[in-house]
Amino acid sequence: PSRITVPRFRAMKREGQKITMLTAYDYPTARLVDAAGIEAILVGDSLSMVVQGNENTLPVSMDEMIYHAEMVGRAVDHALVVVDMPFPSYHLGAHRAIENAGRILKETRCQAVKLEGGAEQAGVISSLTAAGIPVMAHVGLRPQSVHQLGGYRVQRDRRGLLADAQSAEAAGAFAVVLECIPNDIADAITKKLTIPTIGIGAGPKCDGQVLVLHDVLGLSTGYMPRFVKAYADMRGEVGRAVAAFRDEVREGQFPLPEHGYE
Ligand code: KIV
Ligand code: NA
Repeated sequence: PSRITVPRFRAMKREGQKITMLTAYDYPTARLVDAAGIEAILVGDSLSMVVQGNENTLPVSMDEMIYHAEMVGRAVDHALVVVDMPFPSYHLGAHRAIENAGRILKETRCQAVKLEGGAEQAGVISSLTAAGIPVMAHVGLRPQSVHQLGGYRVQRDRRGLLADAQSAEAAGAFAVVLECIPNDIADAITKKLTIPTIGIGAGPKCDGQVLVLHDVLGLSTGYMPRFVKAYADMRGEVGRAVAAFRDEVREGQFPLPEHGYE
């Protein structure tokens, strides 16, 4: 099957097909997610926390996002790949935003960018769109604004959220992530927009759903918000495999003669 394009992604809403999206940050994980038939892969700035071990998403740089987007881009045959614009790569004027987003399309095999914001980012979204760069907007809980929001909290300003989503659509965004907003608000936004809504902590009525792969695999540690679901216990699996290797080497059960050469 050929690569999913932005128009194909948008058409899934019209056709009533649920859209699935997961993060991937490197070649092997992107291979696995792509092979499993997920429609879209996000090289999320969540890699700041998940891969780099930072406290929040603010430290990751443009060069580091490009580095991960290169690896994911090489891995994917099928999925649409979207790359997060890191803080503050799109807050320094439309010119700098196009320069930075343009790097993602020039230097990696990824096809679109995502940025946090709705109404207040409408100018940047329309400049990127005019440059031929597809933009996914991200409204509701915006982790890059953690200091301004005062923590990772449910966002409940119904009118503000609706205005953000509608501004993003009007500015040319091809989709919008809705993060951590009440189910009924997400439902209302999804009905109002013609572009797909991709929810995370936004209830079952969004056009699609996105999660962080490491959470889905049960690889993450620490606090898990209620919207996360682990579909595997990879931490347990990895722990068992590593301990088994350790024990077999210590007890002389690995390697056996057949693992070596005559
Ligand atoms: O960075 C990320 O992983 C994200 C998703 C959780 C939407 O922005
Ligand atoms: Na993100």
